Amino acid sequence: MCGIFGYTGQRQAQDLVLQGLKHLEYRGYDSSGIAVQNGGSSISIEKTHGKIRNLEELLKTHPIKGTTAIGHTRWATHGMPSRENAHPHADSSSHIAVVHNGIIENFFDLKKTLEGEGVKFRSETDTEVVAHLIGKYYRGNLENAVRRALREIKGTYAIAVLSSAEPDKIVAARWDSPLVLGVGERENYLASDVAALLDHTQRVVYLDNGDVVTITPAGSSINDLNGRPVKRETVKITWNVAQAKKGGYEHYMLKEIFEQPGIVGAILSERLKGQKVRFDELTIKPARLARADKVVIIACGTAYHAGLVAKYFIEELTDLPVWVDTSSEFRYRDPKLDKRTVVITISQSGETADTLAGLREARKKGAATVSVCNVLGSTIARESEGVIYTHAGPEIAVASTKAYTAQLTVLYLLALYFAQLRGTLDAKRTKRLISELLRVPALMQRILDRYKKDRQEWADNAHDFNRRYHEALSKYVESDPQRRKRSPSGFFLYLGRNINYPTALEGALKLKEISYIPAEGYPAGEMKHGPIALIDENPWVICIAPKSRTYDKMISNIQEIRARGGCIIPVVTEGDTEIHRLQPMYLIEIPEIDELFSPLLTIVPLQLLAYSVAREFGEDIDQPRNLAKSVTVE
Ligand code: G6P
Repeated sequence: MCGIFGYTGQRQAQDLVLQGLKHLEYRGYDSSGIAVQNGGSSISIEKTHGKIRNLEELLKTHPIKGTTAIGHTRWATHGMPSRENAHPHADSSSHIAVVHNGIIENFFDLKKTLEGEGVKFRSETDTEVVAHLIGKYYRGNLENAVRRALREIKGTYAIAVLSSAEPDKIVAARWDSPLVLGVGERENYLASDVAALLDHTQRVVYLDNGDVVTITPAGSSINDLNGRPVKRETVKITWNVAQAKKGGYEHYMLKEIFEQPGIVGAILSERLKGQKVRFDELTIKPARLARADKVVIIACGTAYHAGLVAKYFIEELTDLPVWVDTSSEFRYRDPKLDKRTVVITISQSGETADTLAGLREARKKGAATVSVCNVLGSTIARESEGVIYTHAGPEIAVASTKAYTAQLTVLYLLALYFAQLRGTLDAKRTKRLISELLRVPALMQRILDRYKKDRQEWADNAHDFNRRYHEALSKYVESDPQRRKRSPSGFFLYLGRNINYPTALEGALKLKEISYIPAEGYPAGEMKHGPIALIDENPWVICIAPKSRTYDKMISNIQEIRARGGCIIPVVTEGDTEIHRLQPMYLIEIPEIDELFSPLLTIVPLQLLAYSVAREFGEDIDQPRNLAKSVTVE
């Protein structure tokens, strides 16, 4: 979603803001722009459609001098991606410039009123009303004008504003869209997330809803919407610049896949003390968790898939029933929650609008709320009664990988913690489970080492697949137009059962996100109720079939696919000989592990498969089209 970066200090702002915007690219965007206070009493704005390099090119020919600036990456909500709709937006006199992340819900009404007053709009965006309103109320004090304008606005926003009449000053505000203040030496920053600040400072202030902050090179002040001062803590973030860089990998996604064993290992060693799970930071009272009679998990995207896996193991290890919901569905039904419900919200960014809304709904209904978040100080983390951080470091690739396995690891531990509190596991089983869980980092590493060794083979297979895929497409397009209408021409079906059914969903999500190949995840047992109709020689069917209690059933399903000519790519446990009889097109092996923990391993080759295919197809792996890393609007 949209990204904001602001700078005021002693240095030239243009390049600093461009660099900041580049760090926000991963959030997803379609256009970008910058407004610089270029000394004297004017503001220069440059903006353009497309990648930040287009803006960079533009600024090479029209550089703007000045030490205070705001920049923006736009992810279109109101109005097509275009130069006109790109931010910053100015008021009619061009003395005010605004960048915005969020949605102004009453913008039609505000626009009508402003048009009635003679204002001419230059874009189709909702943001432009903010610029005109601030311009309308400006009487020599930018902060007052911003506050006055915000009183008329309904919706969500993080905004940063410049006035040509007040040099060296940025006024910013937030309501339900993230905004962080970066504290420097004789300079200050604003950004949508901390990853963009790491080049400059590790001291940050997370702004809260209703905060209006004014920054100058000399310092900052924060007031509420009525102008009353508010105190916010400056915190030191533990992430460093190196973590937000590619570190020699071709893509962030690959780097993040390779970070997984280390992250899982660190989570386990931090939280496991012998046979006990400890969540020292969990402020929620253990007695409240011990009294719970159900668990509800809400999340979006990949985090939702982590929640689906967790349902299986929490139910297996404890006496608690578990429901899992996508946040956007949860918030619009009438979930029956009370003080004996534990609601777990899972969110890498901690800013996903629907998950945040679900969390607030849960709190309203008196449920105990625990969040599993990666970004320190994020809104979901702050608004939950208890938070468990995954400490996976910044995840930059849009397609989530390390956040997923980190979330799963924390959730496994949380399940063991519940079991501990409720006495549902005996000492012998606990010991066995913990020792199995502790094997995971090394086994993940084995999968990755093998990938490194067989890298050329993976690339060749992806190349071979590319050829088959395009042959399949052209076969249907060129030679058999009638058939094309009736038969699928090239897609992936991911099948899994039981605890690896969510792995099928997550594997399919990875592939479609970054390679744009249609892919669907399905519970293998449901195949006969639909997907089997699609099987001929063309779909590629990924069958997740590690050693498990449903292995035989999976084999039967695979046989049914083979009988109809389908190409299978099984993910099996090392040493599985039976699978060869089914003549897989490619075979993927994982080390042996207790079925309960197998989702931590089966997903790794599927991440690598999606990566290899997207790389072979030449796609923009880290920033796939239309997707945003952090979805801060509904
Ligand atoms: C977007 C991202 C996904 C992520 C989902 C939920 O769709 O592209 O990678 O899984 O949001 O995000 P969250 O930050 O709440 O985990």
